[in-house]
Amino acid sequence: MIEFSKKILFVGYGAVAECTLPILFKHIKVAPKSVTVIDFESKEEKLRAWTAKGVRFVKDRVTEENMDTLLSKYLSAGDILIDLAWNIDACEILQWCHDRGILYINTSVELWDPYAGGKKHPTERTLYWRHMNLRRMFAKWKTKGPTAVIEHGANPGLISHFTKQGLIDITTASIRDGKAKGRKAEKLMGHIAARRFNNLAQDLGVKVIHCSERDTQITDVPKQIDEFVNTWSIEGFREEGTTTAEMGWGTHEKTLPALAYQHREGPRNQICVARMGMNMWVRSWVPNYTIQGMVVRHGEAFTISDRLTVWEGGKAVYRPTVHYAYCPCDEAISSLNELRGYNYALQPKLRIMNDEITKGADILGALIMGHGYNSWWVGSDLTIEESRRLVPHQNATTMQVAISVVAATMWMIENPEEGVKVPDDLPHEYILGISKPYLGTFISTPSDWTPLRDYRNAFSGFNKPDFDRRDPWQFKNFLVKDGD
Ligand SMILES: NC(=O)c1ccc[n+]([C@@H]2O[C@H](COP(=O)([O-])OP(=O)(O)OC[C@H]3O[C@@H](n4cnc5c(N)ncnc54)[C@H](O)[C@@H]3O)[C@@H](O)[C@H]2O)c1
Repeated sequence: MIEFSKKILFVGYGAVAECTLPILFKHIKVAPKSVTVIDFESKEEKLRAWTAKGVRFVKDRVTEENMDTLLSKYLSAGDILIDLAWNIDACEILQWCHDRGILYINTSVELWDPYAGGKKHPTERTLYWRHMNLRRMFAKWKTKGPTAVIEHGANPGLISHFTKQGLIDITTASIRDGKAKGRKAEKLMGHIAARRFNNLAQDLGVKVIHCSERDTQITDVPKQIDEFVNTWSIEGFREEGTTTAEMGWGTHEKTLPALAYQHREGPRNQICVARMGMNMWVRSWVPNYTIQGMVVRHGEAFTISDRLTVWEGGKAVYRPTVHYAYCPCDEAISSLNELRGYNYALQPKLRIMNDEITKGADILGALIMGHGYNSWWVGSDLTIEESRRLVPHQNATTMQVAISVVAATMWMIENPEEGVKVPDDLPHEYILGISKPYLGTFISTPSDWTPLRDYRNAFSGFNKPDFDRRDPWQFKNFLVKDGD
């Protein structure tokens, strides 16, 4: 347990924050009266056990107009702001915290109104665009300022640490199994010692990394007509699912997918596609079966592919393709189907499942592909039973996010003057050391899976599947298309 004598403000008390608060008190010794929670919905009932201990609840909404006056009431230099709301502009809140010496953490980079400007070019609607705006703002700062950790939930968040752990585990196994010997083995170990994960990924031959997730949590209270049911923020999911698909684009890729757009500025490590992520499906794998997941855009596709790029003379000579392959819980899949039918107008009733879950798990990890084992999956298989044992009345999905928020908050307290960091900048041993007891079964395992391994052509001779059979790691082999 570490001690914190200043104040903590939570903005947003939804599914993730509800799970984060009890874990925070387990790991950080802070007086309950120093903790304030702001939410524009009535959360008095949900917070009763905590307000009885001294936590303060304020019913209000952080807006573009009132952000300064509202936040200034509860925060001053050295305090921590934990942002678990949605659609608070990341540039503005980061600048505000920077100017006042306040530590800050969020789990996604957002805007006040992500739905504004429907005619914008696809590249301007991307997370990449938001990251470039952030970089331009940081470049103007004279000092790096107080620590702010952005995009540190489960994914983005833990997934960056899983990736590093996976690269180390692939190396260790390759040396043990004689796949890497002599000077090659020494070189790989040298990369690990120097924390050169980009060179490590390159020398292992990694081509593609999926954040592959299958949420198997099911319920005996099924989704009703006109209801969207999920295991985490429905507003957050709708926002990222109904906009451009985005991917870290590997240097091994030969052809861009249809409707792809490239960026003109910055590291140009990503592409976007003028299709909603929720409608772009890829083949992926979790232990021990193939899944189909959606290429919903996420921060990790940007940061992992950026940090794993190897540059030579200003040219990117190596980079893996990185993106999400999300197969949500069954209730969410049927909610999405209804949403499509409603032309993406959100259902009037929203429900995040907790106590009504009867069984299942959130299986979330990094599927690292293209090396000597074909594939390697590393991550968390957390059942609802284990999650409830750790924090009652929460679910496995929010648990994976909450522990990551707490672990990064602890790192901030111990490293308060580091400026803005993404998950890839934090030490994976530190974050995983705190998180693993909350992640259920921690799996790190090889697999002979390729996107074509389980493919069966239902209309062989009557269609024209567009695959590259000589290179299994081309994006076109993962993408589910007409005519496959
Ligand atoms: N990185 C990850 O792994 C990950 C995973 C899940 C959720 N998230 C993100 O975390 C955030 C919280 O997720 P959640 O599942 O708890 O969402 P949620 O919808 O359950 O809760 C958000 C809460 O914030 C409140 N809120 C929203 N805007 C506010 C504002 N301006 N002022 C005050 N209160 C406000 C809402 O009333 C709601 O209670 C979302 O941004 C989501 O996208 C990230």
